[in-house]
Amino acid sequence: MFKTIEWTDEGVVMIDQRKLPSQEVYPVLKTYVEVARAIKEMVIRGAPAIGVAAAMGIALGARHIKTENPEEFEKAFLNICETFAETRPTAVNLFWAITKMKQVYLKFKETGLGSVVSALKNEALHIQKEDVLLNRMMGGHGAKLIKDQDCVLTHCNAGALATAGYGTALGVVRSAVEQGKRVSVLADETRPFLQGARLTVWELQKDQIPVTLITDSMAGYFMKNQEVNCVLIGADRVAANGDVANKIGSYSLAVLARAHGIPFYVAAPLSTIDLNVSNGEEIPIEQRSPSEVISLGKTFIAPNGTKAKNPAFDVTPNIYVSAIITEEGIARPPFIESLRLLKNPS
Ligand code: MRU
Repeated sequence: MFKTIEWTDEGVVMIDQRKLPSQEVYPVLKTYVEVARAIKEMVIRGAPAIGVAAAMGIALGARHIKTENPEEFEKAFLNICETFAETRPTAVNLFWAITKMKQVYLKFKETGLGSVVSALKNEALHIQKEDVLLNRMMGGHGAKLIKDQDCVLTHCNAGALATAGYGTALGVVRSAVEQGKRVSVLADETRPFLQGARLTVWELQKDQIPVTLITDSMAGYFMKNQEVNCVLIGADRVAANGDVANKIGSYSLAVLARAHGIPFYVAAPLSTIDLNVSNGEEIPIEQRSPSEVISLGKTFIAPNGTKAKNPAFDVTPNIYVSAIITEEGIARPPFIESLRLLKNPS
């Protein structure tokens, strides 16, 4: 099995997701600037994976700060955190991980710079390890929603590649398969970046989980033909009221699913649930370069001078969401209560 991201003595190693499926290469990123660029340019992507990359990048950056002066160190450290905060705006896991790293810095800063640097590395490794564990817990809860012989439609890539391993939505599929259920997956290609075609198909094939690729516009056809039992996606940020920001096209799928009476499930760790954001209107949506829309790889598919728009995410209103699967259990509507209870039990 591949590793999405790893900490090594030479630097942070990650599988270059832009090159999949034709090449499986693992660049070694030796500075925090390289790690931040890798997030921005989508060498690594997917909300939880971005969080892990930011944590490791901050730990790497802190290790390279060249001063013994605590004030200068703090300035440089906060500057590194700021660089990561500016990479991608939508996935809240990025900001969650930066906050965790800042908390560790504050906790250890009086104990000397050497111990701050090693505490930051330990925290990054902990976030990575915990992510896999939480995905497995999420998988255990979510698998209850999947029946033997179900066909699950998914969008983008919410798998091992989008996390530290195992996956959120695809983790639920993996858990159901581990329980002996015969599950098949319909994977939306996910234009324009093709995470579904390039990444979801690649990793499910590696696990020998039956997967069939469709273009995004085919989803309604298969729902109408009763070939889809549920839609199951990940999330980049879930608002307190259960509105879900995820890869562009998720909203259209949710409306289609409702029209056909098909459940629409979202699998996301509690770190993706942002109680500071009351509804989806407040979630910042990343606008990416139009060049991703007017070309497919290096080939132009539209006339010279074509104007294009490229919002990378959309928001699915909570009324279309049947359930949100977390590591602590399954939240059902009304989400304003169920999510708060899962986040803050007692
Ligand atoms: O632009 P991306 O590839 O980072 O978008 C990723 C998604 O939209 C995923 O569905 C989401 O991050 C959940 S990943 C477990």
